[in-house]
This record gives sequence, structure tokens and C-alpha cells, in this order.
Amino acid sequence: MEQEIIRLDGVSKIFYSENGHEVLAVDKVDLSIQESEFVCLLGPSGSGKSTVLRMLAGLTPASSGKVSVLGEEVVGPRPEASMVLQDYSLLPWRSVLENVAFGLELRRVPKEERIRIATEMVEKVGLGDFLHAAPYELSGGMQQRAAIARALATDPRILYMDEPFGALDAFTRRQMQQELLSLWLKDKKTVLFVTHSVEEAVYLATRIVVMSARPGRIIADFPVDIPYPRRSSDSEFGRLVDELMHLLMELAYER
Ligand SMILES: Nc1ncnc2c1ncn2[C@@H]1O[C@H](COP(=O)(O)OP(=O)(O)OP(=O)(O)O)[C@@H](O)[C@H]1O
Ligand SMILES: [Mg+2]
Repeated sequence: MEQEIIRLDGVSKIFYSENGHEVLAVDKVDLSIQESEFVCLLGPSGSGKSTVLRMLAGLTPASSGKVSVLGEEVVGPRPEASMVLQDYSLLPWRSVLENVAFGLELRRVPKEERIRIATEMVEKVGLGDFLHAAPYELSGGMQQRAAIARALATDPRILYMDEPFGALDAFTRRQMQQELLSLWLKDKKTVLFVTHSVEEAVYLATRIVVMSARPGRIIADFPVDIPYPRRSSDSEFGRLVDELMHLLMELAYER
């Protein structure tokens, strides 16, 4: 039975700059996401993707409309969701293990148990040999793996990811995408993944939601029915990438 887990009803966000200017960043967005979907939110820079994610994560309030998770209005960060950002955001003075255990610490999980869970997560993302390393001793891809392990350690039902692989080289990026997919295929957490890479969206998502440049509106929303693992050389893959690229180009010319 499908369960709705995320819902936006007529959600808008206005930012007020210091000189009194108003910026309509998100304009009347309606969106409903079912549990276990892997949704990529795709759109040009400034289309309000991060803002949508931050409103869902309870980090900033909507200016109007209603943001709900599991049927409850979001008024602050919620325990069933974790967030992974582009810049890894590991605590530099903590080891990999201590970083991954951090969310468990906040939830007052007893020490032995949090070490057990965190160790397991670190191994799951392939960093077993770096449990006690400091973040600066890791490459970008390894830091991002640690950030994903940290997000997963609290066993969240929802994973919000904001361009998590944007800073990685093409090879590491593909490797991380594959690892994320295999984790998702195992326990089907709901993922809302922000990207401005058309190719990344088609590689990962069960559904792609496209936002237009400011003011951010949803201009396309469709399922991706290509079976996993996907290959960029497949004809359906290429067709969808072309179609999306065309859509984004049209948007750019409309401005
Ligand atoms: N804290 C803020 N204060 C003022 N304006 C903001 C703030 N955060 C975002 N904005 C504005 O809201 C709009 C949407 O920003 P947002 O960061 O959500 O875009 P984005 O789609 O994530 O872009 P990118 O792909 O570049 O990350 C932009 O015009 C931006 O200038
Ligand atoms: Mg952003």
C-alpha cells in the first residue's frame, strides 16, 4: 500500500533582501511524494531547489502554503529525515566514526550501541579502514561517503540530498551514484535528491520533477520507467536526457 510521505500544498517562499527587495524564490508549488520513491528535483541554478529541500527539512519556514511530512505540518527538523549537503559538512575535529555516530549521540543512543551502528554504516560505505581517520585525511569522495553514512546511521525514512556529488570528478561521481542506488534498492528509503545534472537525474530517479528558474515552479513531473542498472548508452536513457535538456534550454530562452 502506497503511503504519502511528503506533501507541499501551494507552497511559496519569499526572501527579503537587506535593501527591501522581495525575491519570490518558490511560487505555489504542489507536490506529493509516496514512500520509497527516488525523486530527483531538477532545475537551473536559482530555481528554488535547495529552498524546497530546506523547507521540507524544517530549516526555513514557507511564506505561504503548507509543508507536511507524514501528514504533519513541518515546523522544524524532524527525526525521520536526514540531509546530505554538497560540501560534506563533517565536523573536522571528529574522526569518521565519531562523525557518523553524531546523529545517534543527539538521539541519546547508548555509547556501545552507537559505536556498533556507526561502525557498521562506515563499513557499508566502504570506509572500514578509515574509522579513526580525521576528515582532512579523506578525499572528497570518501568524505561524501562518510556524510552519507552519517545520514543513514539514524535509519531515517527520508533522505534529503542537495547536490551531494556536485564536487566530485566524473568517475567518483558515477561510483557514488551506483553505491547510493544499491543502498536504495536494498531498503527503499524515500529519497529527494536535488541536482542540476540531467544525466544524474535520469541515472538515479524513479521520478523526475523539473523546476523553472525564478520564480521556482514545477513545470514537469514524470516517472522514469527504465530498469536498473541504467546505462547512458541505452536508447531510452539518451532519449530522456535529450528531452529534458531540450526542456531546460527552452526555459533558459524564455527568460
Ligand atoms: N537565505 C536567502 N536569502 C535571500 N535569498 C535567498 C536565500 N536563499 C535563497 N535565496 C534566493 O532564492 C532563489 C532560489 O535559491 P535556491 O538556493 O533555492 O536555488 P537552487 O535551485 O538551489 O540553485 P542552485 O542550483 O544554484 O543551488 C535564488 O534567487 C536565491 O537568490
Ligand atoms: Mg541549491
